[in-house]
Amino acid sequence: MSLVMQQLQETTAFIREKVSGTATVGIILGSGLGNLANEIITEFEIAYNDIPHFPVSTVEGHKGKLIFGELGGKKVWVMGGRFHFYEGYTPSQVAYPVRVMRMLGVDTLLLSNAAGGVNPSFNVGDLMIIKDHISFFTVNPLLGKNEDSIGTRFPDMSEPYSKALIHTVKEIAKANNIQVHEGVYTGVTGPTFETRAEYKLIKVLGGDAVGMSTVQETITAVHCGMKVFAMSVITDLGIREEENTITHEEVLQAATDAEPKLTLLFRELVQKL
Ligand code: HPA
Repeated sequence: MSLVMQQLQETTAFIREKVSGTATVGIILGSGLGNLANEIITEFEIAYNDIPHFPVSTVEGHKGKLIFGELGGKKVWVMGGRFHFYEGYTPSQVAYPVRVMRMLGVDTLLLSNAAGGVNPSFNVGDLMIIKDHISFFTVNPLLGKNEDSIGTRFPDMSEPYSKALIHTVKEIAKANNIQVHEGVYTGVTGPTFETRAEYKLIKVLGGDAVGMSTVQETITAVHCGMKVFAMSVITDLGIREEENTITHEEVLQAATDAEPKLTLLFRELVQKL
């Protein structure tokens, strides 16, 4: 057995020893969007640092934890805090928790993130359903020897984000008077925000939003056969005429402000699954 399969089995066995319940839904929450975790009736939680083979947090005060509990009447696995490539994790480390979720029985993965708006019609605080992505600026997490027992060498990416899940969320949004865009998310490594020229390039390439997460997790999830739904909160605008800098604080604030809408959509989506 390969090293990664052995590690995945050890991680999964460790978690299963602690949690007897099962869930088919997994959720990974983005920066400033962790509040959904407070709505979960938690049955069990464990710090990432205590899980064997989980990426070790290098960030001081990093409070990442894996949560098992109930949301909208359904059992869910939730990653409160994700691993980003810009923090120094390798693409396969970023991918690791997604594979763990798969081995724990998750077949539907919900992702949220904070993203910069590139489509000129977007405003700060808007929500965008990710209908497709561009991953050329990030490192593919499947590079290297393929793990055939997990998925195929050359995965199809014609529908990385489930059309059925998108349809359901659009219905929920309509019923609750929540405006949602649909668009293409462009993954970048960060940690710099984009230059003006880069935002323009991303727009020319067909991106509607840009961010530093999600793409590697989605690729990993599709590779191992999961359905994915992902949503961006637009926290800043890349395409603008006036002088305007972007700060991490402003991104977090915008994410926090928009979070209740996103939480409602995710909760109701989970209920309907
Ligand atoms: N660019 C990249 N990542 C981001 C942005 C952005 O403008 N906003 C939030 N995450």
